[in-house]
Amino acid sequence: MERFRVQGGARLAGSVTVPGAKNSALKLMAATLLAEGTSRLGNVPRILDVEIMADLLHDLGAVVDVEWTGEGGHCGTAWITSPQRPGHEVDERLARRMRASISLLGPLLARCGQVRIALPGGDAIGARGLDMHVHGLLRLGAEVEMDQGFLVARAPDGLRGRPVALAFPSVGATETLLMASATARGATVIENAAREPEIVDLCTMLEEMGAKIGGAGSPTIEVQGVERLSSVVYETVPDRIVAGTYAVGAAMTCGDVTIRRARTDHLQIVLDKLAETGASVVRTPDGFRVRMDRRPSAVDVATLPYPGFATDLQPQFAALNAIAEGSAMITENVFEARFLFLHELTQMGARIEMDGHHAVVRGVERLTGAAVRASDVRAGAGLLLAGLVAEGETTVSEIHHIDRGYAGLLEHFRALGASIHRVPR
Ligand code: UD1
Repeated sequence: MERFRVQGGARLAGSVTVPGAKNSALKLMAATLLAEGTSRLGNVPRILDVEIMADLLHDLGAVVDVEWTGEGGHCGTAWITSPQRPGHEVDERLARRMRASISLLGPLLARCGQVRIALPGGDAIGARGLDMHVHGLLRLGAEVEMDQGFLVARAPDGLRGRPVALAFPSVGATETLLMASATARGATVIENAAREPEIVDLCTMLEEMGAKIGGAGSPTIEVQGVERLSSVVYETVPDRIVAGTYAVGAAMTCGDVTIRRARTDHLQIVLDKLAETGASVVRTPDGFRVRMDRRPSAVDVATLPYPGFATDLQPQFAALNAIAEGSAMITENVFEARFLFLHELTQMGARIEMDGHHAVVRGVERLTGAAVRASDVRAGAGLLLAGLVAEGETTVSEIHHIDRGYAGLLEHFRALGASIHRVPR
């Protein structure tokens, strides 16, 4: 088990290019199973989760070739050849390694008429139930049962389009329903659908495969089932969370960072919040530039489904608030256990009071380096940011969480001037 060792005090300066989004690429890879033949996905990030998804697809009978030729080898192109008859039993060991393995549920049920998948693992951020996935599939006529830690679903006569209302705009459940309904008989209307850019990305790719989808990016998505889909050539949307992470790093370190290949239209609230901290945020032809010349001012953050403030950027903003001028209220409305990270931050001298899903962060002049633990991928990013501004040395353990979601993070931070190394335990 390796760790990251960060020496505090650096100022981030320079430019960084954002790879494709983890939370899109994994779903796009799963969706290639919907059509027989070879699909080509570009701008796929070189991260552990993508490797796990490639292994899962391979185990289901697909041929997966990946070339890491983009942006310093941190992203690449995946060719996925989906077989005529994919397997329907998802490898248990691989499935338990990441939450996104549940993205296979919809495509396999649609394509094979049955699926057996172990309940997934992934980040330690709360209960993360699957009830909305199950509710949606039942509405489409599937039979679903839990069998000793496995989810088993069957639709021997195919799925039938229906209206489905989600109790919460769950990203994962919306994706499962999109992939399950693309080839169902008749029309499916998903009410209270998630609106994240990664949902729009999946819908766009499905449409290019031949699906008939209306309303992507709105709370009501209509899918008119078609008989079959075809393979596709598609580029993954840039990762807005990675872009936001570097942007917060620039603001925290009084830095000057240009973030390239970033979609500012996907980061509106985040850029507004950064401006509120006192940073100068200027759009560039292919992204934006963040400059800061003083200690940041504290900003309140309340997470919500998109277009609200992303829960995946909450830890990074908590780290910023820890050293900001003033106090900020952080409200976590999406994942209840995301505050595990705040406990680690207090080990570095942050002054934080927590009450349920609210936390008040009182900024201190300086954090102190400490040995801390990443509880999930975004907590890991938040701890690295805190380490950049802390006095002395910070070591972050359980960095496999960081490797799961950030392609080339260490190299990018170092190129921007940070002193950060991967060290053996
Ligand atoms: C995805 C992202 C994750 C992001 C989250 C919210 C991936 C791989 N992960 O996770 O990085 O933080 O969206 O933007 O894309 N829930 C249920 N029952 C369900 C489904 C969800 O109770 O059937 C709950 C979850 O426990 C959680 C909340 O709903 O509290 C949001 O979950 P969801 O939007 O589905 O997030 P994920 O798809 O898991």
